[in-house]
Amino acid sequence: MDFATKAVHAGQKPDSDCGAIITPIYQTSTYVQQSPGVHKGYEYGRTANPTREALEKNLAALENGNYGFAFASGMAATSAVMGLVKQGDHIIVTDNVYGGTYRYFQRIMTDYGLSFSFVDTSNLANVEAVLRPNTRMVFVETPTNPLLRISDLAQISKLCRRRDLLLVVDNTFLSPYFQRPLELNADLVVHSTTKYINGHSDVIGGIVIVKSEKIAERLKFLQNAVGAVPSPFDCWLILRSTKTLHLRMQQHNRSALKIAEYLSKHPKVERVLYPGLTSHPQHELAKKQQLDPYGQPGFGGMISFEMGSWQYGKALLESVKLFSLAESLGGVESLISHPASMTHASVPPEERQRIGLTDGLVRISVGVEAVTDLIEDLERALAKV
Ligand SMILES: Cc1ncc(COP(=O)(O)O)c(C=O)c1O
Repeated sequence: MDFATKAVHAGQKPDSDCGAIITPIYQTSTYVQQSPGVHKGYEYGRTANPTREALEKNLAALENGNYGFAFASGMAATSAVMGLVKQGDHIIVTDNVYGGTYRYFQRIMTDYGLSFSFVDTSNLANVEAVLRPNTRMVFVETPTNPLLRISDLAQISKLCRRRDLLLVVDNTFLSPYFQRPLELNADLVVHSTTKYINGHSDVIGGIVIVKSEKIAERLKFLQNAVGAVPSPFDCWLILRSTKTLHLRMQQHNRSALKIAEYLSKHPKVERVLYPGLTSHPQHELAKKQQLDPYGQPGFGGMISFEMGSWQYGKALLESVKLFSLAESLGGVESLISHPASMTHASVPPEERQRIGLTDGLVRISVGVEAVTDLIEDLERALAKV
Protein backbone atom coordinates (compact mmCIF):
# COMPACT_ATOMS: atom_id res chain seq x y z
CA MET A 1 0.00 0.00 0.00
CA ASP A 2 1.07 3.57 -0.66
CA PHE A 3 2.46 5.59 2.30
CA ALA A 4 -0.48 8.03 2.26
CA THR A 5 -3.01 5.18 2.34
CA LYS A 6 -1.14 3.42 5.14
CA ALA A 7 -0.97 6.71 7.10
CA VAL A 8 -4.76 6.90 7.06
CA HIS A 9 -5.68 3.22 7.41
CA ALA A 10 -2.88 0.95 8.70
CA GLY A 11 -3.64 -0.68 12.03
CA GLN A 12 -7.19 0.59 12.15
CA LYS A 13 -10.53 -1.01 11.64
CA PRO A 14 -14.05 0.22 12.45
CA ASP A 15 -15.05 -0.47 16.03
CA SER A 16 -16.76 -3.87 16.23
CA ASP A 17 -19.51 -2.69 18.62
CA CYS A 18 -20.92 0.34 16.80
CA GLY A 19 -18.85 0.80 13.64
CA ALA A 20 -17.09 4.00 14.79
CA ILE A 21 -14.61 4.77 12.01
CA ILE A 22 -12.06 6.16 14.45
CA THR A 23 -10.30 3.76 16.83
CA PRO A 24 -11.82 4.47 20.27
CA ILE A 25 -9.79 5.59 23.29
CA TYR A 26 -9.86 2.38 25.33
CA GLN A 27 -9.38 4.20 28.63
CA THR A 28 -9.27 1.10 30.80
CA SER A 29 -6.78 -0.40 33.21
CA THR A 30 -8.10 -3.96 33.05
CA TYR A 31 -10.32 -6.30 30.98
CA VAL A 32 -13.07 -8.71 32.02
CA GLN A 33 -12.19 -12.39 31.61
CA GLN A 34 -14.76 -15.05 30.66
CA SER A 35 -13.18 -17.55 33.04
CA PRO A 36 -9.71 -17.57 34.67
CA GLY A 37 -7.15 -17.12 31.85
CA VAL A 38 -9.85 -17.06 29.15
CA HIS A 39 -10.12 -13.57 27.61
CA LYS A 40 -10.15 -11.63 24.35
CA GLY A 41 -6.36 -11.14 24.23
CA TYR A 42 -6.28 -8.36 26.82
CA GLU A 43 -5.62 -8.85 30.54
CA TYR A 44 -4.10 -5.66 31.91
CA GLY A 45 -3.58 -2.13 30.52
CA ARG A 46 0.20 -1.98 30.89
CA THR A 47 0.57 -5.22 28.94
CA ALA A 48 -1.75 -4.37 26.06
CA ASN A 49 -4.27 -1.76 25.00
CA PRO A 50 -6.21 -1.69 21.69
CA THR A 51 -5.65 2.06 21.09
CA ARG A 52 -1.92 1.62 21.68
CA GLU A 53 -1.85 -1.42 19.40
CA ALA A 54 -3.54 0.53 16.60
CA LEU A 55 -0.85 3.22 16.87
CA GLU A 56 1.97 0.66 17.00
CA LYS A 57 0.69 -1.10 13.88
CA ASN A 58 0.22 2.18 12.03
CA LEU A 59 3.76 3.40 12.72
CA ALA A 60 5.32 -0.01 12.06
CA ALA A 61 3.64 0.06 8.63
CA LEU A 62 4.93 3.58 7.87
CA GLU A 63 8.52 2.58 8.72
CA ASN A 64 8.16 -0.66 6.74
CA GLY A 65 8.79 -2.61 9.93
CA ASN A 66 6.89 -5.55 11.38
CA TYR A 67 6.48 -4.53 15.02
CA GLY A 68 6.09 -1.25 16.90
CA PHE A 69 6.29 -0.56 20.64
CA ALA A 70 4.95 2.73 21.96
CA PHE A 71 6.38 4.44 25.01
CA ALA A 72 5.55 7.41 27.22
CA SER A 73 8.36 9.54 25.71
CA GLY A 74 11.17 9.38 23.21
CA MET A 75 13.59 8.93 26.12
CA ALA A 76 11.52 5.99 27.44
CA ALA A 77 11.80 4.44 23.95
CA THR A 78 15.60 4.87 24.00
CA SER A 79 15.69 3.45 27.50
CA ALA A 80 13.83 0.32 26.30
CA VAL A 81 16.46 -0.09 23.57
CA MET A 82 19.13 -0.10 26.27
CA GLY A 83 17.42 -3.23 27.60
CA LEU A 84 18.94 -5.05 24.61
CA VAL A 85 22.49 -4.65 25.93
CA LYS A 86 24.03 -5.67 29.22
CA GLN A 87 26.77 -4.88 31.69
CA GLY A 88 30.19 -4.82 30.02
CA ASP A 89 28.88 -3.96 26.56
CA HIS A 90 30.24 -1.04 24.53
CA ILE A 91 28.07 1.24 22.41
CA ILE A 92 29.13 3.66 19.67
CA VAL A 93 27.00 6.80 19.53
CA THR A 94 26.78 9.79 17.18
CA ASP A 95 28.59 12.56 19.06
CA ASN A 96 25.96 15.18 18.22
CA VAL A 97 22.90 13.26 19.47
CA TYR A 98 19.99 14.99 21.21
CA GLY A 99 21.31 16.35 24.55
CA GLY A 100 18.93 14.18 26.60
CA THR A 101 20.21 11.03 24.89
CA TYR A 102 23.78 12.08 25.66
CA ARG A 103 22.83 12.77 29.30
CA TYR A 104 21.03 9.43 29.68
CA PHE A 105 23.96 7.44 28.26
CA GLN A 106 26.76 9.37 30.00
CA ARG A 107 25.22 10.10 33.39
CA ILE A 108 22.98 7.10 33.96
CA MET A 109 23.85 4.09 31.84
CA THR A 110 27.60 4.29 32.57
CA ASP A 111 26.66 3.53 36.21
CA TYR A 112 25.25 0.22 35.00
CA GLY A 113 28.54 -0.97 33.49
CA LEU A 114 27.94 0.13 29.89
CA SER A 115 30.59 2.15 28.07
CA PHE A 116 30.03 4.63 25.24
CA SER A 117 32.19 6.15 22.50
CA PHE A 118 30.76 9.37 21.09
CA VAL A 119 32.11 9.89 17.57
CA ASP A 120 31.17 11.76 14.42
CA THR A 121 29.38 8.87 12.69
CA SER A 122 29.15 10.88 9.45
CA ASN A 123 32.62 9.43 8.77
CA LEU A 124 32.66 5.62 8.80
CA ALA A 125 36.37 5.58 9.69
CA ASN A 126 35.50 7.17 13.05
CA VAL A 127 33.13 4.30 13.82
CA GLU A 128 35.69 1.67 12.77
CA ALA A 129 38.38 3.36 14.87
CA VAL A 130 36.51 2.88 18.16
CA LEU A 131 35.27 -0.69 17.61
CA ARG A 132 36.13 -3.00 20.50
CA PRO A 133 35.66 -6.73 20.98
CA ASN A 134 32.77 -5.92 23.36
CA THR A 135 31.03 -3.44 21.02
CA ARG A 136 27.41 -4.51 20.76
CA MET A 137 25.46 -1.58 19.34
CA VAL A 138 25.80 1.51 17.14
CA PHE A 139 23.31 4.28 17.95
CA VAL A 140 23.03 6.82 15.14
CA GLU A 141 21.03 10.02 14.92
CA THR A 142 20.77 11.36 11.37
CA PRO A 143 20.38 14.20 10.60
CA THR A 144 21.72 15.28 13.97
CA ASN A 145 20.20 17.74 16.35
CA PRO A 146 21.12 20.62 15.91
CA LEU A 147 24.11 20.45 13.53
CA LEU A 148 22.23 18.46 10.85
CA ARG A 149 25.17 16.18 10.11
CA ILE A 150 24.25 13.10 8.12
CA SER A 151 25.50 9.56 8.58
CA ASP A 152 25.52 7.08 5.72
CA LEU A 153 23.13 4.41 7.01
CA ALA A 154 23.77 1.91 4.20
CA GLN A 155 27.51 1.98 4.94
CA ILE A 156 27.11 1.75 8.71
CA SER A 157 24.57 -1.07 8.45
CA LYS A 158 27.03 -3.09 6.31
CA LEU A 159 29.66 -2.70 9.02
CA CYS A 160 27.11 -3.67 11.70
CA ARG A 161 26.07 -6.81 9.76
CA ARG A 162 29.73 -7.85 9.36
CA ARG A 163 30.43 -7.43 13.08
CA ASP A 164 27.04 -8.62 14.33
CA LEU A 165 26.23 -5.27 15.95
CA LEU A 166 22.75 -3.85 16.46
CA LEU A 167 22.17 -0.65 14.49
CA VAL A 168 19.72 1.75 16.11
CA VAL A 169 18.64 4.89 14.25
CA ASP A 170 16.91 7.85 15.86
CA ASN A 171 14.70 8.94 12.95
CA THR A 172 12.94 11.76 14.80
CA PHE A 173 14.18 14.59 12.55
CA LEU A 174 12.84 13.24 9.25
CA SER A 175 10.00 10.89 10.21
CA PRO A 176 9.32 7.82 8.05
CA TYR A 177 8.05 10.13 5.32
CA PHE A 178 11.59 11.22 4.40
CA GLN A 179 13.76 8.37 5.76
CA ARG A 180 13.12 4.70 6.43
CA PRO A 181 16.25 3.24 8.08
CA LEU A 182 14.90 -0.35 8.23
CA GLU A 183 14.96 -0.37 4.41
CA LEU A 184 18.71 0.35 4.72
CA ASN A 185 19.15 -2.63 7.07
CA ALA A 186 19.07 -0.83 10.41
CA ASP A 187 17.76 -3.14 13.16
CA LEU A 188 15.78 -0.65 15.23
CA VAL A 189 14.23 2.74 14.59
CA VAL A 190 13.52 5.07 17.50
CA HIS A 191 11.34 8.17 17.41
CA SER A 192 10.37 10.87 19.77
CA THR A 193 6.75 10.84 18.54
CA THR A 194 6.48 14.14 20.42
CA LYS A 195 7.92 15.71 17.25
CA TYR A 196 6.82 15.30 13.60
CA ILE A 197 4.83 12.10 14.12
CA ASN A 198 2.41 13.77 16.53
CA GLY A 199 3.12 17.17 15.03
CA HIS A 200 0.67 19.23 17.09
CA SER A 201 2.80 20.02 20.16
CA ASP A 202 0.33 18.42 22.55
CA VAL A 203 1.79 14.99 23.42
CA ILE A 204 5.06 13.52 24.73
CA GLY A 205 5.64 10.06 23.29
CA GLY A 206 8.08 7.59 21.79
CA ILE A 207 8.14 4.49 19.62
CA VAL A 208 10.57 1.71 18.70
CA ILE A 209 10.05 -0.14 15.41
CA VAL A 210 11.77 -3.35 14.30
CA LYS A 211 11.58 -6.06 11.66
CA SER A 212 13.05 -8.94 13.66
CA GLU A 213 10.68 -11.15 15.63
CA LYS A 214 13.42 -11.99 18.13
CA ILE A 215 14.14 -8.33 18.99
CA ALA A 216 10.38 -7.67 19.05
CA GLU A 217 9.87 -10.39 21.66
CA ARG A 218 12.43 -8.82 23.97
CA LEU A 219 11.00 -5.32 23.45
CA LYS A 220 7.49 -6.55 24.18
CA PHE A 221 8.80 -8.08 27.39
CA LEU A 222 10.62 -4.85 28.33
CA GLN A 223 7.61 -2.66 27.51
CA ASN A 224 5.48 -4.64 29.95
CA ALA A 225 8.14 -5.37 32.57
CA VAL A 226 9.48 -1.80 32.83
CA GLY A 227 6.10 -0.21 32.17
CA ALA A 228 6.88 3.20 30.59
CA VAL A 229 3.74 2.96 28.46
CA PRO A 230 1.78 5.90 27.00
CA SER A 231 -1.82 6.62 27.99
CA PRO A 232 -4.60 5.47 25.62
CA PHE A 233 -5.56 9.12 25.10
CA ASP A 234 -2.01 10.07 24.05
CA CYS A 235 -1.93 7.10 21.66
CA TRP A 236 -5.22 8.26 20.17
CA LEU A 237 -3.92 11.80 19.68
CA ILE A 238 -0.78 10.53 17.94
CA LEU A 239 -2.84 8.17 15.77
CA ARG A 240 -5.03 11.10 14.71
CA SER A 241 -1.84 12.92 13.69
CA THR A 242 -0.21 10.16 11.64
CA LYS A 243 -3.12 10.43 9.18
CA THR A 244 -1.70 13.76 7.97
CA LEU A 245 2.01 13.05 8.42
CA HIS A 246 2.69 12.96 4.66
CA LEU A 247 0.90 16.27 4.06
CA ARG A 248 2.62 18.03 6.94
CA MET A 249 6.09 16.74 6.02
CA GLN A 250 5.73 17.94 2.42
CA GLN A 251 4.89 21.44 3.65
CA HIS A 252 7.64 21.51 6.32
CA ASN A 253 10.13 20.54 3.62
CA ARG A 254 8.92 23.05 1.02
CA SER A 255 8.91 25.96 3.45
CA ALA A 256 12.23 25.04 5.10
CA LEU A 257 14.00 25.00 1.74
CA LYS A 258 12.71 28.50 0.96
CA ILE A 259 13.71 29.81 4.41
CA ALA A 260 17.15 28.18 4.22
CA GLU A 261 17.73 29.83 0.83
CA TYR A 262 16.57 33.17 2.23
CA LEU A 263 18.83 32.94 5.30
CA SER A 264 21.86 31.87 3.29
CA LYS A 265 21.69 35.16 1.36
CA HIS A 266 21.22 37.33 4.45
CA PRO A 267 24.32 39.40 5.35
CA LYS A 268 23.79 38.99 9.12
CA VAL A 269 23.76 35.19 8.93
CA GLU A 270 27.25 33.68 8.83
CA ARG A 271 26.36 30.12 7.84
CA VAL A 272 23.22 28.05 7.26
CA LEU A 273 23.05 24.33 8.01
CA TYR A 274 20.32 22.68 5.97
CA PRO A 275 20.84 19.42 4.05
CA GLY A 276 18.72 20.73 1.16
CA LEU A 277 21.26 23.46 0.33
CA THR A 278 24.02 22.56 -2.11
CA SER A 279 26.42 24.23 0.38
CA HIS A 280 25.68 21.49 2.95
CA PRO A 281 28.77 19.22 3.04
CA GLN A 282 26.58 16.12 2.76
CA HIS A 283 23.97 17.40 0.34
CA GLU A 284 24.69 14.53 -2.09
CA LEU A 285 24.30 11.89 0.64
CA ALA A 286 21.07 13.56 1.79
CA LYS A 287 19.71 13.39 -1.76
CA LYS A 288 20.50 9.68 -1.90
CA GLN A 289 19.37 8.64 1.58
CA GLN A 290 16.51 10.96 2.52
CA LEU A 291 13.79 9.96 0.12
CA ASP A 292 10.05 10.32 0.27
CA PRO A 293 8.02 7.17 -0.48
CA TYR A 294 8.04 8.10 -4.18
CA GLY A 295 11.84 8.37 -4.42
CA GLN A 296 12.09 12.17 -4.30
CA PRO A 297 14.68 13.64 -1.91
CA GLY A 298 13.46 15.55 1.14
CA PHE A 299 15.33 17.46 3.79
CA GLY A 300 12.81 18.07 6.57
CA GLY A 301 11.86 21.19 8.44
CA MET A 302 14.86 21.83 10.69
CA ILE A 303 17.40 24.57 9.97
CA SER A 304 20.32 25.73 12.11
CA PHE A 305 22.27 28.89 11.42
CA GLU A 306 25.21 30.77 12.84
CA MET A 307 24.67 34.32 14.05
CA GLY A 308 28.32 34.77 15.07
CA SER A 309 27.79 35.32 18.81
CA TRP A 310 25.37 34.64 21.64
CA GLN A 311 24.61 38.38 21.76
CA TYR A 312 23.42 38.42 18.13
CA GLY A 313 21.57 35.13 18.50
CA LYS A 314 19.79 36.41 21.62
CA ALA A 315 18.79 39.63 19.87
CA LEU A 316 17.19 37.58 17.10
CA LEU A 317 15.39 35.21 19.51
CA GLU A 318 13.98 38.22 21.36
CA SER A 319 12.82 39.99 18.20
CA VAL A 320 10.84 37.32 16.34
CA LYS A 321 7.07 37.42 16.76
CA LEU A 322 5.61 34.56 14.72
CA PHE A 323 8.35 32.07 15.63
CA SER A 324 7.86 31.04 19.27
CA LEU A 325 10.89 30.77 21.51
CA ALA A 326 10.60 27.20 22.76
CA GLU A 327 12.29 23.81 22.93
CA SER A 328 10.98 20.89 20.85
CA LEU A 329 10.33 20.72 17.12
CA GLY A 330 8.18 19.15 14.44
CA GLY A 331 4.88 20.86 15.27
CA VAL A 332 2.59 22.79 12.95
CA GLU A 333 3.74 26.05 14.55
CA SER A 334 7.23 27.43 13.90
CA LEU A 335 9.68 27.45 16.80
CA ILE A 336 13.06 29.07 17.37
CA SER A 337 15.63 28.05 19.96
CA HIS A 338 19.20 28.41 21.19
CA PRO A 339 20.59 24.85 21.44
CA ALA A 340 23.61 25.71 23.65
CA SER A 341 21.43 27.02 26.50
CA MET A 342 18.25 25.05 25.84
CA THR A 343 18.11 21.55 24.25
CA HIS A 344 21.86 20.92 24.61
CA ALA A 345 22.56 22.62 27.96
CA SER A 346 23.20 19.15 29.43
CA VAL A 347 26.17 18.67 27.05
CA PRO A 348 29.33 20.03 28.77
CA PRO A 349 30.67 23.28 27.19
CA GLU A 350 33.98 21.65 26.16
CA GLU A 351 32.08 18.84 24.38
CA ARG A 352 29.82 21.40 22.67
CA GLN A 353 32.92 23.25 21.49
CA ARG A 354 34.54 20.04 20.25
CA ILE A 355 31.58 19.15 18.05
CA GLY A 356 31.08 22.72 16.78
CA LEU A 357 27.90 23.54 18.67
CA THR A 358 28.64 27.23 19.13
CA ASP A 359 26.96 29.85 21.34
CA GLY A 360 25.88 31.77 18.24
CA LEU A 361 23.96 28.84 16.76
CA VAL A 362 20.21 29.30 16.37
CA ARG A 363 17.84 26.47 15.42
CA ILE A 364 14.44 26.80 13.84
CA SER A 365 11.67 24.27 13.37
CA VAL A 366 9.70 25.44 10.36
CA GLY A 367 5.96 24.98 10.84
CA VAL A 368 3.18 24.91 8.28
CA GLU A 369 2.22 28.61 8.41
CA ALA A 370 2.49 30.62 5.17
CA VAL A 371 6.19 30.77 4.34
CA THR A 372 5.87 34.42 3.28
CA ASP A 373 4.79 35.34 6.82
CA LEU A 374 7.65 33.35 8.33
CA ILE A 375 10.24 35.04 6.11
CA GLU A 376 8.75 38.44 6.89
CA ASP A 377 9.06 37.71 10.62
CA LEU A 378 12.73 36.74 10.23
CA GLU A 379 13.39 39.78 8.04
CA ARG A 380 11.94 42.12 10.65
CA ALA A 381 13.80 40.43 13.51
CA LEU A 382 17.15 40.27 11.68
CA ALA A 383 16.90 44.01 10.96
CA LYS A 384 16.90 44.58 14.73
CA VAL A 385 20.09 42.52 15.34
C1 LIG B 1 16.24 13.58 18.09
C2 LIG B 1 15.56 13.38 19.40
N1 LIG B 1 15.52 12.15 19.94
C3 LIG B 1 14.91 11.91 21.13
C4 LIG B 1 14.34 12.93 21.86
C5 LIG B 1 13.68 12.65 23.18
O1 LIG B 1 12.31 12.62 23.04
P1 LIG B 1 11.24 12.99 24.19
O2 LIG B 1 11.44 14.46 24.50
O3 LIG B 1 9.93 12.68 23.58
O4 LIG B 1 11.56 12.14 25.37
C6 LIG B 1 14.34 14.23 21.32
C7 LIG B 1 13.72 15.33 22.08
O5 LIG B 1 13.90 16.49 21.76
C8 LIG B 1 14.98 14.46 20.08
O6 LIG B 1 15.04 15.69 19.53
